[in-house]
Amino acid sequence: MNNDQGILFPEALTREIKDRFHYVDRDMNGRERLFFDNAGGSFRLKSAVERFAQIDALPDCPERIHEMSRLLQKVQADGTADVRTILNAQGGSVYASLTASGGMFDMVRAVAENIPGTNMVTTTLEHPSSFDALTLYAQRLDKELRVAKSNPVTGGVDVADIVGLIDQDTTLLSVIYASNISGAKLDIQEIVKQARAIKPDIYIVVDAVQHAPHGLIDLQKTPVDGINIAPYKFFGCRGSGMSWLSDRAARLPHHKLAAKNVDFWDLGSSAPAQFGVVTEIVNYVCWIGSQFTGSADRRELFVCGIERIELHERALLARMLNGSDGRSGLRHLDGIKVFLDYEDLTKRDLILAIGIDNLEHAQAVREYEKRGVIVYERVSSSLYSKRMLESFDLEGAIRVSPLHCNSVADVDRFLHITRQISLAMSVEAS
Ligand SMILES: Cc1ncc(COP(=O)(O)O)c(C=O)c1O
Repeated sequence: MNNDQGILFPEALTREIKDRFHYVDRDMNGRERLFFDNAGGSFRLKSAVERFAQIDALPDCPERIHEMSRLLQKVQADGTADVRTILNAQGGSVYASLTASGGMFDMVRAVAENIPGTNMVTTTLEHPSSFDALTLYAQRLDKELRVAKSNPVTGGVDVADIVGLIDQDTTLLSVIYASNISGAKLDIQEIVKQARAIKPDIYIVVDAVQHAPHGLIDLQKTPVDGINIAPYKFFGCRGSGMSWLSDRAARLPHHKLAAKNVDFWDLGSSAPAQFGVVTEIVNYVCWIGSQFTGSADRRELFVCGIERIELHERALLARMLNGSDGRSGLRHLDGIKVFLDYEDLTKRDLILAIGIDNLEHAQAVREYEKRGVIVYERVSSSLYSKRMLESFDLEGAIRVSPLHCNSVADVDRFLHITRQISLAMSVEAS
């Protein structure tokens, strides 16, 4: 798929999509609101919230023989299969944790402690959940931590800068699928290919938390050993991270009850409701796919749905940047800077980093909220963004992250409000 300016959903479908989510146009108090902070937690599908409540209301233990227990087992088995649908994963183990960070720390630990080697490789754009896990185990196990630099032009990390750090003594390569600061996608397929050309049996883990709700993941094309997603950033509910481990990674020694199988990762009671949420997410993406293809195959429907989501989001991104119908986009608005603004939109998820002249980012966030818009600042004093921003030589930015359930009218309103704020600031400054 290479439509460089994206394709919007038909208008009627956009309305149906909006209706499937909670609070897209108004907050829970009924106030009009543009929620453009989906990188911090996405709009929730009504069906996911309902399914969570329905399943979680059952008191039954899933490890019993009774009818309701068997229903819970099925919900969990279906959700587990749907994690594989999202990733196009075969075999291996699916592992549920309370957060994506928890899952990542466990995967990194298992590889770091059990695979020989003297170094571990990662990038400066990682979220602390993987970067800090690698730092911790590198120190504890006396391994060198090698960190690939970012590219301020693309907002990502170049393949050559990552694979150049790998050698026969690399225990683990950990890479983020897309940056949650710049939205830049890393070329995971090429990274995996080139890393394995250097060390065929290298262990690779991928943080797909940011990218999974915005584009296709295909582990058959990018074979890795561990990958995680966060349902709450993927139209689902908080309190859940889902990871998948390859057969060989799943069998590495890890925390587990002694009587469980060697490749079993869940520790203690499972939460079937969280798996019900994953199934609702996949049902929804497949429903979008069904608007465009007649296939009955679940993965094919999912692929079509997520590709259409990607195209719609790209079209929104293009409109944000370039404007339309006589309305200037962010690139052309006086007093606005778009950071890390790589031309090729096919390499970007729908996240923007902007700044407004004469206005501190934290203050801009307040100005936006006064006008009914939720965005958030990523500043170098935050543990969640310091390393990434410094790598780009940026002090901070306002992060703007809409979702595919937003419409062109939402984008236009955001541009209008941004212009208002910028004008107000230039009047104050003069
Ligand atoms: C890219 C990325 N990875 C990992 C995480 C960690 O997710 P969680 O807070 O569920 O541990 C986040 C959360 O912000 C993220 O954006």
